[in-house]
This record gives sequence, C-alpha cells and structure tokens, in this order.
Amino acid sequence: MAGSLVHEIKNPLSTINLSAQLLQEEWKDVDTPKGQRALRRLQVMSSEVQRVERIIETFLRFTERHELSLEVKSLNEMLEDLAEFATAEAERSGVQIRLGLSVDLAPFSFDVDLVRQVFQNLVQNARQAMSPGGGELILKTDRVERDGVEYAIGEVIDTGPGIEAEKLERIFELYYSTRDGGTGLGLAISRRIIEEHGGFIEVQSVKGKGSQFSVYLPLERKET
Ligand SMILES: Nc1ncnc2c1ncn2[C@@H]1O[C@H](COP(=O)(O)OP(=O)(O)O)[C@@H](O)[C@H]1O
Ligand SMILES: [Mg+2]
Repeated sequence: MAGSLVHEIKNPLSTINLSAQLLQEEWKDVDTPKGQRALRRLQVMSSEVQRVERIIETFLRFTERHELSLEVKSLNEMLEDLAEFATAEAERSGVQIRLGLSVDLAPFSFDVDLVRQVFQNLVQNARQAMSPGGGELILKTDRVERDGVEYAIGEVIDTGPGIEAEKLERIFELYYSTRDGGTGLGLAISRRIIEEHGGFIEVQSVKGKGSQFSVYLPLERKET
C-alpha cells in the first residue's frame, strides 16, 4: 500500500523536476534582476523536489520487504572481516576494536549482505557515540537458547555515553535521531532486517558507561 502510493507520487514529482530544469535552461542567460530571481527560485524548486525524491526513496527502501538471499556462512568470519575493515577509521577517532568470538558458533544460514549492513550500522553508531573522546568497541558472538529456540548472538558493545531510558524506547523508530546530520534510518532498518530473519535485537545501556546491542539470529530457520 505505502509502496504503490510512493510510486504514484514519484511520477508527477519527476515531471515537476524536469519542467523546472527545462525552465532553468531557458532562463540561464537572462541578465535582468527579475530574470536572475526567477532562475534562483527555479533552482530552489529543483533541489527541493530532489530532496522529496530522496526522502521517498529511503522510505520505499524501508517499506519494501527484503528478499533474503540465504547462505550458510560464518558470523564470526563476517565480523572479523568487518572489524579489519573498520579498524583504520576507528583508530583515527581513538576507538579500539576488540573481538571476542565464540568457538562454539558454527556457520548457519543468513543473508550475509543484509546482516553485514546491520553490524556496520551498529559499529558506526558506537563509533559516533564515542566521538570525539574515543573508547573501546567490542564485537562478540555467542550461542544461546531462548524459549526452546537456538540463537546465534552478535554483540556490539561500546564505552560511549550510554542512552537514557526515555530515549531508549525511541531509538528504533524510523527517522529518530539525536545526531547532527543523522537520518534515523540505521536502527529502524537493522531491526527490520533481523526480524525478517526471525530474530530480534536487544539493547542495554547505562548512562555514562556505554551501550550494548545484542543481535539474535535463529540457527534453524522455521519453514515459512
Ligand atoms: N551506541 C550508541 N550509543 C549512544 N546512542 C546511540 C547508540 N546507537 C544509537 N544511538 C542513538 O540512537 C539514535 C538512532 O540511531 P540510528 O537509527 O542509527 O540513526 P542515526 O545514526 O542516523 O542517528 C541515534 O541518533 C542515537 O541517539
Ligand atoms: Mg546510525
């Protein structure tokens, strides 16, 4: 429903954008003050229409179900690669990355690209939370049983400022962000991806001490 509404809106928007661009072409050599003003207004129109298009695009990406492409993969290896990739940038902001990977965790079936995206989001948030002072970022794995279901857990732990209880209830909301330049998409999309895998994300946080995000992924997929 949201998806088709968005598609309906996109067509007239791109017509408006195209018309504004054609008008700009026509007016670009006009050197009267009035013409210059008109040109500037057309430029504002174009860039605002493009902004609406981008907002709609991200909303669409959020509402559309991801088609999971499942493969048997090692979560440990994925996190090792991610840590290696993130280390240089982390160290530049004074963040030490440490790994605590469980040897009991065998490969299991998940969408490695989507799950990697989740951990990249969590690592980025942790790094940003510890900026500019730096701190410690720990990536951990484990396996547990909950209500008769076996799960792999991947944890991202930081020594940042933590999250207050009132904020904690809202951080997974779409567009909720307390950061300058934040989009509020990271955690909403991450939760979505993990739920599509039949899992869930838990968060614990102590003000002034840090935060811990625990991603639970079922080791056995239920037939759907
Ligand atoms: N590790 C963390 N430490 C402190 N606050 C966090 C952490 N991760 C997320 N948050 C809070 O949750 C909000 C939403 O995060 P997210 O959905 O990734 O959006 P964004 O990163 O664009 O702000 C952040 O703006 C921040 O307030
Ligand atoms: Mg984020």
